[in-house]
Amino acid sequence: GTYEFIKAEKRGEKGNVGLIQLNRPKALNALNDGLMKEVGEALTQFEKDDSVGCIVLTGSERAFAAGADIKQMQSQEFAGVWRGNFLSHWDQLTRANKPIIAAVNGFALGGGCEVAMMCDIIYAGENAQFGQPEITLGTIPGAGGTQRLTKAIGKSKAMEMVLTANRMSAQEAEKAGLVSKVFPVDKVVDEAIKTAEKISSFSKITVGMCKESVNAAYELSLKEGLHFEKRLFHATFATNDRKEGMTAFSEKRAPNFTDS
Ligand code: HXC
Repeated sequence: GTYEFIKAEKRGEKGNVGLIQLNRPKALNALNDGLMKEVGEALTQFEKDDSVGCIVLTGSERAFAAGADIKQMQSQEFAGVWRGNFLSHWDQLTRANKPIIAAVNGFALGGGCEVAMMCDIIYAGENAQFGQPEITLGTIPGAGGTQRLTKAIGKSKAMEMVLTANRMSAQEAEKAGLVSKVFPVDKVVDEAIKTAEKISSFSKITVGMCKESVNAAYELSLKEGLHFEKRLFHATFATNDRKEGMTAFSEKRAPNFTDS
């Protein structure tokens, strides 16, 4: 479709990667309502598209996203944001079945950092800067900045970022475990697409189970999580793709996954 605030297209040699690019350059990709709605629409399209196995979310080289749109929030009052559950629809990103890789260059601040953390893998360009500057505006992170960040990098580092608004560089973010890899600025999207192509080459049903099981580690006790994982492992034996994968290995040939 055609969008006002984003671009969406299929990428990768086999066209099996859905690329969503935030495209509101004049406001450093500030996440207004229209932009987040379009991200949701593009996501729904790629989730429905059987040829897409993995999604990449990126911004520009200057900014992944500089946060929720401050000018849009400026005049809002408590009763309205409470009644309308303001910005609650952002979490559509966390309900995707297909893995999402955030390819982050430049500013990932406030809601921008939070949206990156809703993704499954974060790749960063060398110029990436992560931060939760809400404290400077008299508000607090509202889309995971106090929760996902703490789980990703631990209490002391998360507390320092949230209480001081100090930014974290790409290199620090990699060291702290917030991002998995750092690349030159002009390479990060290509590298994310390459990884997404690899993920797309596997059985989609198995990829979905892997994602679901890793995410369960955030919600369940170890005992419950291990049980959940074991049952999903058992469930793979009900798929043709599991049979195909193990048969292909035994026959020393490449597997042909068909998601059945
Ligand atoms: C609206 C924004 C914006 C934002 C930047 N812009 N960030 N507009 N909302 N979050 C606009 C600026 O107003 C400006 O527009 C244009 O983008 C370029 O920005 P500059 O400030 O001129 O650029 P620069 O000097 O390079 O500084 C970049 C920056 C700064 C450090 C990223 O823009 C900045 O501090 N932005 C706000 C970051 C922030 O506080 N984010 C958290 C938001 S609260 P004009 O029209 O003036 O040219 C949040 C809550 C999430 O995210 C809660 C989720 C539930």
